[in-house]
Amino acid sequence: MSIQWYPGHMHKTKKALIERLKSTDMVIEMLDARLPASSQNPLLAQLSRGKPKLYLLNKQDLADPELTRVWLAELQSRPNTQAIPLDASERQAAQKITAACRALVPHRQGIDRPLRVLICGIPNVGKSTLINGMTGKKSAKTGNEPGITKTEQRLLLADDFWLYDTPGMLWPKIIVPQSGYNLAASGAVGRNALDEEVVALELLDYLRQHYLPLLQARYQADPEDSPSWQDSDWLEWVGRRRGALLSGGRINHQKAAEALLTDFRDGQIGRITLETPEQWQHWLAAAREHEAQLQAQRAERQAQRRSRSK
Ligand code: G4P
Repeated sequence: MSIQWYPGHMHKTKKALIERLKSTDMVIEMLDARLPASSQNPLLAQLSRGKPKLYLLNKQDLADPELTRVWLAELQSRPNTQAIPLDASERQAAQKITAACRALVPHRQGIDRPLRVLICGIPNVGKSTLINGMTGKKSAKTGNEPGITKTEQRLLLADDFWLYDTPGMLWPKIIVPQSGYNLAASGAVGRNALDEEVVALELLDYLRQHYLPLLQARYQADPEDSPSWQDSDWLEWVGRRRGALLSGGRINHQKAAEALLTDFRDGQIGRITLETPEQWQHWLAAAREHEAQLQAQRAERQAQRRSRSK
């Protein structure tokens, strides 16, 4: 599935990000706890290499608690990195985050050496909810520094704690197909950019393999029969249970897909995480192999064209 991801202004945004990173001490990346690898920006990792990093596993209230623990351990094992679980609207969010940042960069404190932090995250991850909760009215727009986007916000969490929120993010091509599906299922990708039926079928495929009891309970499926159902049988069943019907009692697949995705996004099916570190490594290795094969084929075609034209 090809997803139109962050269209336009890529070059400008990248320049602004590189410029901002020159004067930041560390980076906070907000991840979706249900898809901690897919919601990580690989280009940000590359551009901010060497800087201390705090990962916020947000929407942890919707994620599988056991897998959140696994992901936290994985992220915390990286050098110079901290990771904390979060529900963006929780009252203690600001204290938790500032304490973790100060622990990562202890030498930046006091009004003449403020801790300068850049916060990033994919759309819909909960950044606005978090920032609104953290700052109240203590925010200031900055836009007159060279190379910095006009709408960048500098938020003063304390006299010596500045948080930069740069809207617009750049993303390299998504090479792991599951990553595209998971981003789409989470609601990070705009509706026009995806085929909801395809995304719903992929989601059902994962859920029936890893969260079958939750799926059966939510849609009151027969525990004897349903283990043998295929993805399309499940979509039909969800449509029936959620009243996604056409005339004559046929299922409206589009409406059934929408109903499933809404249920997943709202946590109605249960607390679910769509990827484990092992699965991610496996998907990534397969995607890299596939990309390498494509490149080799391309190189071979070019070589053939060159030898023909000689
Ligand atoms: P963004 O700025 O990163 O794009 O995301 P935003 O804060 O707008 O949050 C996107 C949606 O996710 C919002 O729901 C918000 O309430 C919800 N959300 C944010 N953080 C959490 C969290 O930790 N847990 C849960 N369960 N939800 C969270 P919405 O339905 O789009 O808006 P609203 O009805 O809440 O206003």
